[in-house]
Amino acid sequence: MKIAVFASGNGSNFQVIAEQFPVSFVFSDHRDAYVLERAQNLAIPSFAFELKEFENKAAYEQAIVDLLDKHEIDLVCLAGYMKIVGETLLSAYEGRIINIHPAYLPEFPGAHGIEDAWEAGVDQSGVTIHWVDSGVDTGQVIQQVRVPRLADDSLESFETRIHETEYQLYPMVLDDLGVVRK
Ligand code: GRF
Repeated sequence: MKIAVFASGNGSNFQVIAEQFPVSFVFSDHRDAYVLERAQNLAIPSFAFELKEFENKAAYEQAIVDLLDKHEIDLVCLAGYMKIVGETLLSAYEGRIINIHPAYLPEFPGAHGIEDAWEAGVDQSGVTIHWVDSGVDTGQVIQQVRVPRLADDSLESFETRIHETEYQLYPMVLDDLGVVRK
């Protein structure tokens, strides 16, 4: 099973995945994303182009579909890819795209799952990996785990605990989906 990872920025989840599983390539929608440096350090091919370089989102996503087709990718792993997957990509790859979300969906969907949970004052949040559909963080849940918010947590320590849970969960889900380790 060939996988590609999509990330918009830091790429710490990409790094964890790539250290354990063969990754065919990483794609970023930002040419200056730190994930591209991580890919280079790990000698993993990377591609980057930006929506604004295309006439519209369909053309941008068609370029992504072409890349996925060319590399015969079986599973697209979104890991901090901060764009909503549109019709063009979805119609070509629906059922083959998963995403990680730093909250216990359907609680706190959207771009600020950690901060939103923190501000709501919950005593637990979580991490979710789900199939991607046309909604924002609405697709069928594959696996999710609870992460407690401790009495002496700061937003920073809470965030760190969530990220550490992400680094455990993504590899577990890839194992379950039958992706073979390095
Ligand atoms: C993660 O918290 C992920 O759940 C969310 O964006 C963050 C990406 O972090 N979708 P990184 O780029 O993997 O470091």
